[in-house]
Amino acid sequence: MTLRRRLAVAITALLVVTALAFVGVALSQRAYLIAQLDERLSTLTTDGRALLAIANRADAGNGAAAGLLTDVYIGVLRANGALVTVLTPNADPGLVPVLLGNERDAGPLTRAIVGGGERVRLVEVPLNGGRYAVVALSIAGVEAAFRRLLLALGLAWLGVAAVIGLVAYWVDRLGLRPIARLTSAAEHVTASGGRAPVQVETADPQTEAGRLGHAFNAMVATTAAGQEELRRFVADASHELRTPLTTLRGYSSLYAAGGLASSEQVADAMGRINAEATRMGRIVDDLLDLTALTDSAALELRPLDLGTVIEELAADLRVRNPDRAVVVERTGATIVLADPDRIRQALTALVANAVKYSPDGSPVVLGAQRLGPMVRARVTDRGRGIPVEELPRVFDRFYRVRSAAAAGAPAPATPKGSGLGLAIVAAIVSAHGGRYGVDSVPGRGSTFWLELTGSDGAVPARA
Ligand SMILES: Nc1ncnc2c1ncn2[C@@H]1O[C@H](COP(=O)(O)OP(=O)(O)O)[C@@H](O)[C@H]1O
Ligand SMILES: [Mg+2]
Repeated sequence: MTLRRRLAVAITALLVVTALAFVGVALSQRAYLIAQLDERLSTLTTDGRALLAIANRADAGNGAAAGLLTDVYIGVLRANGALVTVLTPNADPGLVPVLLGNERDAGPLTRAIVGGGERVRLVEVPLNGGRYAVVALSIAGVEAAFRRLLLALGLAWLGVAAVIGLVAYWVDRLGLRPIARLTSAAEHVTASGGRAPVQVETADPQTEAGRLGHAFNAMVATTAAGQEELRRFVADASHELRTPLTTLRGYSSLYAAGGLASSEQVADAMGRINAEATRMGRIVDDLLDLTALTDSAALELRPLDLGTVIEELAADLRVRNPDRAVVVERTGATIVLADPDRIRQALTALVANAVKYSPDGSPVVLGAQRLGPMVRARVTDRGRGIPVEELPRVFDRFYRVRSAAAAGAPAPATPKGSGLGLAIVAAIVSAHGGRYGVDSVPGRGSTFWLELTGSDGAVPARA
C-alpha cells in the first residue's frame, strides 16, 4: 500500500472513530438524562394513592399541590381499559400518552402521545379496584438537550475533520507529492539507462522532500556528467587507437598485395609495425593508469620528501643525458603526504616531456620548494615552449600541441607520444587534492609544476 493510501485510510479511520465516539457521548448523555427522569418518576410513584390524591387536589385548583406537579401527567386506567386524565403538564395541557396495554409491572417505558410530536416516560402504579394510576413525564426537554449536544459535537467534528484535512493536504503537498514526482523521475532515469539528465521540481529545501529532491538532482547531474565523460573517454581512446591500427592494417595489406618486394622494404615495414604496436601498448597502459587514478582511495599515502624525489630524478637524468646541464633547486621543508610511486610517475612524465620538447644539450632545472602550506615541485626546460592559446588544453586527454613547427622546434625529431602523459599527471595530482599548472614562453621554454599540501617537516612513523 502506498504511503498516500495509508494516510488516507488512517485519516478516514480517525474521522469515523471520532464520529462514533461523539455519537456515543451524546447517547450516553441522553441515557443519563432519561435515567434522571425515571428516578423522578419512581420518587413520584412510591405511593400511587397519595399521588392521585395530590393530583385531584391540584386539578381542583389547590395551588400548593399544583406547584408540586407542574410537569407531570397523571391519569387513571380503569379496569375496563379506559384512561381518564386527572392532570396534565402546564406546558402541554393536551398531553395524553398512547398506551399499548403492556405497561403493567414493566417499570418506566417510553411512549408516544396522542397526536404525536413528543414522547413521554411512563409508569403504571396499581390502585385499588383493578385500577392503575398512569404517571408520565415528557422527554421533550431531554430530546432537545440531546439534539443540541449532537449539533455541538457535529460542529466540533467538522472542525476536527477540517484540521485533519488541512494537515493531510500539507503533508501530501510537502512530503508525498514530491516523493511521487521523484519516483517517476527516477523511473524515467532508469528507463533511459541513466543518460537522461532528468531534473525534478524541488520543494522547500527546509523539508526532507526538498532536500531529497536537491540530492536527486545533483545525483542525476553527476551521473549524466559521468556517463558523458565515459562516452567521450571511450570515443577518444578508440579514435587514438584507430590511427596505429590503420597503419598496421596498411602494412599487412601492402605485404599481402606483394607491395613489399625487397627484404629492406619488409624490414622497414616490420620496424614501423613494431613502433606502432609499441605505441598502442603505451596508450593502453596509460589508459589503464588513468582509469585507476579516478579512485583516490587507491592511493597509498606516506610521508615523501619531494626534494629527495627530484634529486633522484636529476641523477637518473644526468646518467641518461650526460650532455645536459641538470640543475636542482631545493628550499625549505619539502615533505608531503603522498603516494610515492604515483608522485614519482607524475614527475617522471614532466621530466620526460622536458627532455622530449627541448633541444639536446639544453639545460633542465628541477626544483622543490615550500610555498606557505604547500610544497611545489617544478620542471623547467629551455625548449620550444607552448603557445598561450594551447596552454589551457595541454593537460587534456590526448591533447598534443599541433603548432609545434610554428613554435620553431624540429617537429619530425619528436617521437609521437600518447598525449596522455599530462592527463595522467593531472589525475595523480587531483587524486592527492593538489594543484598543477604550467608557465610557458614560446621559443624560450616551459615550467610545469605541481603542488601538494606540506606535511610539517617531521616524518611520522609509517603506519
Ligand atoms: N615541456 C614541454 N614543452 C613544450 N611542450 C610540451 C611540454 N610538455 C608537454 N608539451 C605539450 O603538451 C602535449 C601533451 O603532453 P603529454 O600529455 O605528455 O603528451 P605526449 O608527450 O604524449 O605528446 C605534448 O604533445 C606537447 O605538445
Ligand atoms: Mg609526454
